[in-house]
Amino acid sequence: MPAPSLVETRRLSMVFPGVAASSLRPGDRARAARTVRALHEVDLRVAEGSVHAVVGPRGAGKTTVLNLLSGYLAPTAGQLLVLGRDVTGQQPEQLARLGVGRSFRPSSVLDALTTAEQVELALASSSADHGRWPPRRELGQFREGAEAVLAEAGLAGQADVLAGSLAPCERRALEFAVAIAPGPQVLLLDEPTAGLGPDDVDRTIALLTRVAAGRTLVLVDHNLYAVRSVADTVTVLRGGEVVAEGAYDEVRPELGA
Ligand SMILES: Nc1ncnc2c1ncn2[C@@H]1O[C@H](COP(=O)(O)OP(=O)(O)O)[C@@H](O)[C@H]1O
Ligand SMILES: [Mg+2]
Repeated sequence: MPAPSLVETRRLSMVFPGVAASSLRPGDRARAARTVRALHEVDLRVAEGSVHAVVGPRGAGKTTVLNLLSGYLAPTAGQLLVLGRDVTGQQPEQLARLGVGRSFRPSSVLDALTTAEQVELALASSSADHGRWPPRRELGQFREGAEAVLAEAGLAGQADVLAGSLAPCERRALEFAVAIAPGPQVLLLDEPTAGLGPDDVDRTIALLTRVAAGRTLVLVDHNLYAVRSVADTVTVLRGGEVVAEGAYDEVRPELGA
């Protein structure tokens, strides 16, 4: 029997509306009716415990998939299921409570906080029922938990370092730490190796492999070397449609790799 799907989409579609004609200058009127079909009837099944990569050229709809899976966008049509439950149209906070976590690009890490403070904030805001940001003086109680998370992300011993002074791949590690702190069931990562040099890509792949153990990951990346290294299943998108799905070697002909 196949592993159950932690996240599933059924004919998920997203059309972005065109800009209203009234808000355009006269010469731009032609743009008015131009809607963008970003995704068309996408079926995804993300198996529990797997690393599921979504790849495709720029504009293929990869980030839109992550925005839909995390509730930052509501689909134009189709369904989103988490653990078999229809959660189409639910807000990001509701999906976060069901265990959908994500990292952000560009990074949501704040330069002026220490690595421990960022993770303490992530732990505190996910443990409060109303998801508020707690005052700084209340963060101390999360220190021990934050240190454990930092160690898991390979940042043991860097707890009191300001994020602004971290090396690029350490900063990426801190983004992972913030994302795994609330204990998500499934973690969505957008371009985790983007903007890194070759050595940092290798370090980030090693970290991803570690973070993936015992977790479910949905990963968007341009870097096919990273995808080949960590993904169990690869979905290839082009023009908002799935054109191939399978193990890396099976979809390889569709990748131009
Ligand atoms: N908020 C938006 N409004 C209008 N069009 C958008 C918006 N977000 C994305 N798009 C369009 O949807 C398509 C898919 O974009 P995206 O998901 O960002 O692709 P990818 O991440 O694969 O590069 C592109 O044509 C993009 O221009
Ligand atoms: Mg993108």
